[in-house]
Amino acid sequence: MLFEIRPFERKIFELISLSAAELGFPAYVVGGFVRDRIINRPSKDMDIVCVGSGIKLAEHLASKLRPIPRIAVYQRFGTAMIKHKDLEIEFVGARKESYRKESRKPTVEIGTLSDDQRRRDFTINALAVSLNEDDFGEILDPFGGMYHIEEKLIKTPLEPGKTFSDDPLRMMRAIRFASQLGFSIDEQTLKSISSYRNRIDIVSQERITIELEKILMSEKPSVGFKLLESTGLLEIIFPKLQKLKGVDYVGKQGHKDNFYHTLEVLDNIVPKTKNIWLRWAALLHDIAKPQTKKFDPKVGWTFHGHEAVGSFMVPKIFKRLKLPLDHKMKYVQKLVMLHLRPISLTKENITDSAIRRLLFDAGDDLEDLMTLCEADITSKNPNKVQRYLANYEMVREKLKEIEEKDHLRNWQPPIDGALIMKTFNIEPDRVVGIIKDHIRESILDGVIPNEYDAAYQLMLDKAAELGLTPVNPGD
Ligand code: CTP
Repeated sequence: MLFEIRPFERKIFELISLSAAELGFPAYVVGGFVRDRIINRPSKDMDIVCVGSGIKLAEHLASKLRPIPRIAVYQRFGTAMIKHKDLEIEFVGARKESYRKESRKPTVEIGTLSDDQRRRDFTINALAVSLNEDDFGEILDPFGGMYHIEEKLIKTPLEPGKTFSDDPLRMMRAIRFASQLGFSIDEQTLKSISSYRNRIDIVSQERITIELEKILMSEKPSVGFKLLESTGLLEIIFPKLQKLKGVDYVGKQGHKDNFYHTLEVLDNIVPKTKNIWLRWAALLHDIAKPQTKKFDPKVGWTFHGHEAVGSFMVPKIFKRLKLPLDHKMKYVQKLVMLHLRPISLTKENITDSAIRRLLFDAGDDLEDLMTLCEADITSKNPNKVQRYLANYEMVREKLKEIEEKDHLRNWQPPIDGALIMKTFNIEPDRVVGIIKDHIRESILDGVIPNEYDAAYQLMLDKAAELGLTPVNPGD
């Protein structure tokens, strides 16, 4: 079967073909690029395998391109990379041992194209397109990859235990591809993931987390997380998430299964955001429910404080997953912490002060918080869903109204510590904090308006109470 060569790639394919012919190294496009082009996914990374030296082929090709590109050569791994237009093209000699692009092992044993194909992870990733004169553009598919693309199936080319032992991360890759592409995993392959799950222990956390993030960024992350759970991998790589699964009963009263609820929230948020940190917040928003779960005979199951405990758990989780411990983590913590606040504003007679406080606490992340809250509605009753959404609409209106009036986003109180110290000629001291907090709370509570003069007066009053007199009165 012929590969449908698009106009943008014809020229580069022909030049690689010419270079390969001149060197006498048969060359092929392989792996993810071929797969993605067949299923119409955009792909910028092109892998070329040749029977010979990948570095020499890259150098020969580069001399034919204008402008002549820089070649990144990785002598130790026998690979070379060229950036050409939008493409990153990587060249490697066909190899006999397990194929792993990120492997730190130097490549040694030279193989044929079919050696190379059988060492790859899945049949859909083992397709090759010939760039050689006699069969230019022919798809070489020894393991039925084309059929599996049609069948939407992830299947290993060899006995799955062999493919997974070669690189246990492939178990996660199988699940990630299922989630990204909407494919199923072949029965034997899936069984093998369960059997070999403990081997994931030898894989670095960084590689595992990359796959988790790809699952999070897929169109239906629940598919990936359900597979991680059912194969037993989740228990190993993310026990705290696993713990959300299950329902406890007292008599006939059970609570909802927080694992499946979380996955619904995650799927709900996908069409609303590509911000991975907001997706992490969706995944982690109820993470402390198992720890905070209680049964109260009067009200049933409660999870009091799960937002605060959950927020507190985020840094540990980020550390374990080797995610950045910076403002992105703080953002996730903040959303977990605040995720119940908007719902509390849907009650009647809500005070302006409660709204001001949310504006103040959420700051620029208010929109994202509202997105999370709306995704958190997972009721199966459409009337309820409508009612909750309408409630949030009302909250949005109230927030907008108060925001327009009080300009509290990114707000800093009109009096800062420096001015307090200057006015009373004092060194940094706890009374500075007391006065500052008092001003901030009074503005948030609506006791005084958010204005300099009122705040200045309040500073004088509070300071007098504390026995201070101004020595440098302001203008
Ligand atoms: N591969 C493999 N085993 C791995 C990683 C990669 O066999 N653990 C092979 C597959 O043939 C894959 C190719 O190397 O298609 C390129 O790997 P990579 O760029 O990591 O993955 P892609 O399949 O291109 O997919 P993505 O870019 O989405 O990660």
